[in-house]
Amino acid sequence: MNKLSLLAALLLPLGACTPKLAEPHIVPAPQSMEISDGALCLKGITFNCDPSFDDKSFAAVEEFAAQLSAVNGKKSQVSGDDGAFCFVKDDSITPEGYSISVTPASAEVRASDFNGVFYALQTIKQMLPLSIYGGQPDRGADWRIPCCEIEDAPRFAYRGFHLDCCRHFFSIDEVKKIIDVMSIFKYNRFHWHLTEDQGWRIQIDKYPRLTEVGAWRNGTMVGGDWNSNDGIRYGGFYTKDEIRDIIAYADARGITVIPEIDLPGHMQAALASYPELGCKGSQPQSYEVWTIWGVSKQVLNVGSEKTMQFLEDVLGEVADLFPGEYIHIGGDECPRDEWKTDPDCQALIKKLRLKDKDGVSAEARLQNYVTARMQKFLAGKGKKIIGWDEILEGDLSEGATVMSWRGTKGGIKAASMGYDVIMSPTTYCYFDYVQGHDLVKEPFTITHQWASNKEWEEDPLTLEKVYGYEPLAEIPAEAQKHILGVQCNMWTEYIAEPDYLEFMYFPRALAISEVQWCNPGNKDESRFLESLALRALPLLEQLGVKYRALD
Ligand code: ACM
Repeated sequence: MNKLSLLAALLLPLGACTPKLAEPHIVPAPQSMEISDGALCLKGITFNCDPSFDDKSFAAVEEFAAQLSAVNGKKSQVSGDDGAFCFVKDDSITPEGYSISVTPASAEVRASDFNGVFYALQTIKQMLPLSIYGGQPDRGADWRIPCCEIEDAPRFAYRGFHLDCCRHFFSIDEVKKIIDVMSIFKYNRFHWHLTEDQGWRIQIDKYPRLTEVGAWRNGTMVGGDWNSNDGIRYGGFYTKDEIRDIIAYADARGITVIPEIDLPGHMQAALASYPELGCKGSQPQSYEVWTIWGVSKQVLNVGSEKTMQFLEDVLGEVADLFPGEYIHIGGDECPRDEWKTDPDCQALIKKLRLKDKDGVSAEARLQNYVTARMQKFLAGKGKKIIGWDEILEGDLSEGATVMSWRGTKGGIKAASMGYDVIMSPTTYCYFDYVQGHDLVKEPFTITHQWASNKEWEEDPLTLEKVYGYEPLAEIPAEAQKHILGVQCNMWTEYIAEPDYLEFMYFPRALAISEVQWCNPGNKDESRFLESLALRALPLLEQLGVKYRALD
């Protein structure tokens, strides 16, 4: 027994007499948490990190020690093997899982990987005074954590959040702020929507006009009025260096960035940059980066090899830039009207002998061909594809992952057919939808837009509705293993400002964090709402996040 353990053993009965600290309010709730009498003070505590952990894990523990020292005024550090707070590598713990065991004299975290270490730290930080997030000295605060036994691991491996930076552009700093917050609530995938009719946002070296021309539009429609234009030139894009910065920032917080290049529709900004990639109809085409919302009928001419080369060049640069295993290739809402008259598309349909069959048009089968070709190209670069659920129409190649957005039926079908699936149905996961019942009180959303056209019959997407989502509902038992996880989506037609973006994400993103993380028996709406009121919302406030207040 070393000197510290001996001291701990002597002090144990004394510490155990300390009355129970208040129950911590952790979001997402750990799978199992037993709080007992006694507490451990983290002021000046020394950490010990198993040398078999990777550098990232060490860096995360070191950063926590530095944060603690800065706020409570007593130096904490990561030392050799005599720290009272130990991080132990334990390969029997499931990926991203962790355990925390706290006695009055010591604490031990066990994890098998970086995300497990990082999430244990997030849980511990949620037990500490809020000033742990701010870095400002707070010497008089209570820096104890309760004696406890926590065992925790995520229900789903894929816990995504999505941001459309095309309809409106968000700065690198704002993207980092969102990543920061999501990492606290144990999200691990950032789906970055980077190309659209209304703006191309990613630097591609071989095609400079994509950002010289495609990143800028001549005005934006005002509110829900399609006939208006504010006349203000609008746009922006991310350089490759900025993107690398985001990838590294996210990675240090356990988050993988998944870029989306939406093809072959939603490409009008690319067509404005390179009109030769468009279809040849009876009229000559003229393209502009779109200034209105909706789904443009102007799509890529996929019958031309030049277009295929363009797509492979773009995806090649994207695959080289993003280290994660997935590239999202969109595939949603591609009107195929132009393909019906374009000579190249029709010639390719003929060459490939594509037919209208089983309710699937030859043009839809042409889209299958594009999806399969991009999938094969990316497989050659070691990447897998994700596509919106439209890619299921016709024949989808093995190994594609389907993102179910038009309700849950696409996800149910895809999982039953053996495809991996990410659930992000509009009914629970579309955070651009209104949050409250009284439209008059809520700021303008896409729901208001629909309501003004009498196209809105659904309930609002309230916090409670989001919380109630069960991703495996109606998924046959044998197909449930294909549900990789859940994602909340943020489309930004009507969301131009960071404050409003945060208002629309939070606190609904915290409800999804419990949908993603907690086993069904561990979800409890009233406990969740109490945790929000007592801890998570004050935490968002501390972080300067402009969330929507509870009703
Ligand atoms: C989508 O919302 N168009 C995927």
